[in-house]
Amino acid sequence: MASTILRMTERDEQFLRRAMRLSMNGRGTTEPNPSVGCVIVKDDRIIGEGYTQPFGGPHAEPTALASCTESPRGATAYVTLEPCCHTNKKTPPCAPRLIEAGIARVVIGCLDPNEDVDGKGVAMLRAAGIEVAGPALEAEAKQLIAPFIGRMKFHRPYITLKWAQSADGKISGAGGARAQISNAASSRLVHKLRARSDAILVGINTLLADDPLLTARNVEASRLQTRVILDSHLRTPVTSKIVQNNDGDVHIFFAASEYGSEKMRSLMAKGINLHVADTDDAGRISIPMLLNRDLFTDFTHLLVEPGPTLAKSFFDAGGADRVWVIESPNKIGAHDAIDAPRVPNRYVKSAELKIDGDVLSEYLDTESDLFFAGAPSADFVLARDMQSV
Ligand SMILES: NC(=O)c1ccc[n+]([C@@H]2O[C@H](COP(=O)([O-])OP(=O)(O)OC[C@H]3O[C@@H](n4cnc5c(N)ncnc54)[C@H](OP(=O)(O)O)[C@@H]3O)[C@@H](O)[C@H]2O)c1
Repeated sequence: MASTILRMTERDEQFLRRAMRLSMNGRGTTEPNPSVGCVIVKDDRIIGEGYTQPFGGPHAEPTALASCTESPRGATAYVTLEPCCHTNKKTPPCAPRLIEAGIARVVIGCLDPNEDVDGKGVAMLRAAGIEVAGPALEAEAKQLIAPFIGRMKFHRPYITLKWAQSADGKISGAGGARAQISNAASSRLVHKLRARSDAILVGINTLLADDPLLTARNVEASRLQTRVILDSHLRTPVTSKIVQNNDGDVHIFFAASEYGSEKMRSLMAKGINLHVADTDDAGRISIPMLLNRDLFTDFTHLLVEPGPTLAKSFFDAGGADRVWVIESPNKIGAHDAIDAPRVPNRYVKSAELKIDGDVLSEYLDTESDLFFAGAPSADFVLARDMQSV
């Protein structure tokens, strides 16, 4: 749809930025839907605002309209994403709600990538005599909903790689032993990030070294995370915590050569979901093929907690949209500790945050089809806000 930017002012940009910040508050609860922000302004004053409520709940526009302290008739609505107009979904469409409320002008951040909308919401508003301005701040507005665009257009999740490394560039203790590298405040942010993800994935060496549960602990979570292990030769111990605490949503991808093995039978007996996977030239699970599997096309956010081996495979496959590196001020000081992965040059650093001495850096893959702007992600902004309270 060819849409025009009409009469955008500095104030418009400020109100739209306010809506963008609000939209971040829904992160982690609205998926697979995007979180949208809406600000309603009359006579240069905000009279109502809101953001998408948890999945199945009201969208940003009705939430903002319901919060209005005076009649929204004649007001301007700033919405980060084009208002929806389709009815084949859980909640009533938003464009008719704005029309009924007497909104005179709508400023949008970006068009909706959902084929059912994609310009039709704007057309509906214009047909009702409403002035529509935008897309405005489009790159940043798209960056905010990159995971939704990933699902809608590319049928894949937004992928984040996250690790902690020491001041001397190590990711493990001596000889690959487990080491607590990040501090307590950083760990809390990581658990928050886990809680907002659909799935957490590791390579088998990490499972063997750390025996992790891969759950979000001591933080609020609106859903349980699927846990995925890449384990070509089914080395996952039946005694590992993840197997012993299996809740039915633990998945292991392995090579066909192990099909029918004794180990396969014992993991199945524990209720683990086992998937034969396509392998690459090195006999390891092929990352591009993996991401095409049905399990993955259902995820909006995939969090990978890799060792250097798995990180390299994701980087080589172009399979990491975002990287979070937490760097500790402390050294490991063991020559045989494992070196941290390297973030490839094509990544741009979008933000940095001090966390009680640790430093969190966010990098975005400029070559990803889900890269739109080098702006900090919603998860990063929420992490920053957590640190400032
Ligand atoms: N500090 C941190 O944040 C952090 C995070 C994670 C891990 N770690 C540390 O990192 C160390 C483990 O790192 P690592 O590099 O040895 O192992 P890794 O990345 O955890 O796992 C690599 C293994 O996964 C399997 N795999 C299957 N498909 C793969 C693919 N496409 N690409 C890569 N691997 C694939 C391979 O074993 P098979 O061929 O047998 O399948 C491979 O050897 C541990 O010491 C752990 O504590 C630290």
